Amino acid sequence: MAPRRKKIYEGKAKILYEGPEPGTLIQYFKDDATAGNGQRKEVFEGKGALNSRLSEFFMTGLNAIGVPTHFIRTLNMREQLVRQVEIIPLEVIVRNYAAGSMARRLGLDEGTQLPRPIVEFCYKADKLGDPLVPEEYIVAFGWASQQDLDDIVSLALRVNDFLSGVMHGVGIRLIDFKIEVGRIWDNDFPSLVVADEISPDSARLWDIATGRKLDKDVFRQNLGSLTDAYAEVARRLGVLPQGTTHHRIKPTLIN
Ligand code: CDP
Repeated sequence: MAPRRKKIYEGKAKILYEGPEPGTLIQYFKDDATAGNGQRKEVFEGKGALNSRLSEFFMTGLNAIGVPTHFIRTLNMREQLVRQVEIIPLEVIVRNYAAGSMARRLGLDEGTQLPRPIVEFCYKADKLGDPLVPEEYIVAFGWASQQDLDDIVSLALRVNDFLSGVMHGVGIRLIDFKIEVGRIWDNDFPSLVVADEISPDSARLWDIATGRKLDKDVFRQNLGSLTDAYAEVARRLGVLPQGTTHHRIKPTLIN
C-alpha cells in the first residue's frame, strides 16, 4: 500500500511529513520518550497528544502577542500544520534557575535562582551529544550570523517572559527550556521564527508549592508517571485534550 504521504524526517519524539501546500509540513507527535541522547527509550501512551496540545497552546499564545512561530493550526490530536523553515542548527536554551547540565557544570544546587535569565547555545549534532558552544564558534563556522544570534537572543527572551508569566499564573516555575529557531522567507525577506515544539519534553517545570517536577525529568529520574505530570500541566492550563483524561482504573467494590 502506498504511504499516505511522504515522510520528510523522523526524530526521537516527532515525525515531519510533507504538508498539503508548498512551504508547509505536518508535525506528528509520537508517544516515545528518550533520555541520555536516545540511550533510553520508552513509550508513554497519550504523551504525543498532550505535547501537541501544550505546544499548540504556547505557540498560539506567542503568535498572538507578536512573537512569530512556525505554528499554523492543529489538524488532529497529534498532528499540526506548520510552516516549513530552515532550521538553525542550534538548541537555544534559556535558564532562569540552575538545573541539569548547568548545575553540574558549575556545581550549583538545582533550583538556585540565576542573577538574570541566561541564554546559551548547543550545536545540534546528536553524534556529539549537542555540545555547548560559544557564539564565536557559531559565527566562525557559519551556523548563524552575529545578526541572527542577536535576533535569536531577543526572540528567546520574549518567549521566556511569556512562558514564565503563563506558568507562574498556574503555580508552576519555569526553570529552563529549549527552543529551536527557523528561518522563513516571505517575498525574499528572511525572518526568524520559533520552530519545533514547546512542551514539558523541552522545559523544566516545577510546581511552586511543592517543588514537584512536571517535565521530562520525571522520566529521566524515574519519579513516577510521565503522562500524569504532563496531564497536570495541561489541566492547570485548561487544555487537557479530550479523550486523554486519565481513567485511573480502580477496583470497584461490589457488595
Ligand atoms: O537535559 P540536560 O540536563 O541534559 O540538559 P540541559 O542543558 O540542562 O537542558 C536545559 C533545558 O533544555 C531542559 O529543559 C531540557 O529539557 C532542554 N533540552 C532539550 O529540550 N533538548 C536537548 N537536546 C537539550 C536540552
